[in-house]
Amino acid sequence: MKSKILVTGGAGYIGSHTVVELQNNGYEVIIVDNLSNSSINVLDGITSITGIKPAFEKVDCCDKKALENVFEKYHGIKAIIHFAASKAVGESVEKPLLYYKNNLISLLNILELMGEQDAPNLVFSSSCTVYGQPDTLPVTEDAEVKPAASPYGNTKQIAEEIIRDTIHANNSLKCIALRYFNPVGAHPSAAIGELPNGIPNNLIPFVTQTAIGIRERLRVFGNDYNTPDGSAIRDYIYVVDLAKAHVISVERLLNNKNKKGLEIFNLGTGTGLSVLEILKEFETATGVEVKKEIVGRREGDIEKVWADPALANKELGWKAETSTREMLKTAWAWEKSLATKK
Ligand code: NAD
Ligand code: WQD
Repeated sequence: MKSKILVTGGAGYIGSHTVVELQNNGYEVIIVDNLSNSSINVLDGITSITGIKPAFEKVDCCDKKALENVFEKYHGIKAIIHFAASKAVGESVEKPLLYYKNNLISLLNILELMGEQDAPNLVFSSSCTVYGQPDTLPVTEDAEVKPAASPYGNTKQIAEEIIRDTIHANNSLKCIALRYFNPVGAHPSAAIGELPNGIPNNLIPFVTQTAIGIRERLRVFGNDYNTPDGSAIRDYIYVVDLAKAHVISVERLLNNKNKKGLEIFNLGTGTGLSVLEILKEFETATGVEVKKEIVGRREGDIEKVWADPALANKELGWKAETSTREMLKTAWAWEKSLATKK
């Protein structure tokens, strides 16, 4: 068994897929999650894939004492992957304090405990949202960080700054911040996947729910963008590819292969797809037609963004490998498996 890794938010969408990859690579995982946006049943899904039930503690990362108890109970944690955060952009506009409190206090607690508990390695979930609408595409890590379009986005920008300042002051601490583009899909087993709370905000869960008949039609937000077909462009990355990058990042930190205290990497495919293109691809991948309606632009949306993943390709030796068609098939298999569980 390799090192013990603490995974906050490990019952969530990206966290659960990462726990699977960590366990498959021999790591001992301790999940901390308050289940505010996930279900305890996710642990069964993880166990059915890997054959190993991860240790789980229902703890709120804003509660420092409770987190400290986790470090003491599972002595010898050497690295933390910090997924735990609230992530709904629209909700963050309505409830900014909830977002600043949850996303930043949990990070402050983690950073303090890293120093106090001799767990100096952090992998942090950042987001391409920090770029806003980039001036140049594909966007590289040294592109300007634009004023955030939402309190959620701002928490990611502030979080990166807090991490930078903390590492500057204590050079025994190290962090890899991963800026995810648009994660989609589910584990190929369909035992774990994305569990949207209520009406999905994100495109792919809305597409699969429409395809299965939960939603009447997909609203395509805008066809008057300056893009070839007028709909907005994003870089959709398969969640399992994303999860694998976390294992590589943890290994890099544990083996002291990082080149600076804080390293930042884009995690994307390098290819942009429009809403209409990915919709077509979904229909081809699954043979299911998705009813759609073109409506106005969604407030706060940017026109187009896709990653330059060259730095992650070179430094991490990681590459997004899964085709759009494959990832969409897994999203559909997951939606169908959810229907059988109801
Ligand atoms: P998710 O909501 O599925 O997972 C987050 C998990 O954290 C949930 O299980 C939730 O219950 C838990 N959590 C939230 N606050 C907590 C707290 N205070 N204490 C303990 N647990 C807490 O979200 P996800 O899509 O898996 O996102 C994971 C991370 O990646 C987040 O930090 C998110 O901001 C970031 N991110 C997500 C995306 C995306 O599109 N999904 C894109 C970029 C970045
Ligand atoms: C993708 C495209 C929509 C729903 C958000 C966050 C970002 C990051 C990833 C965490 C857009 C269009 C969507 C629908 C549509 N999360 N769309 N109809 O907006 O790129 O990014 O998730 O860090 O911070 O903002 O992702 O999946 O919501 O939208 O037409 O019903 O699909 O307009 O062009 P987005 P998304």
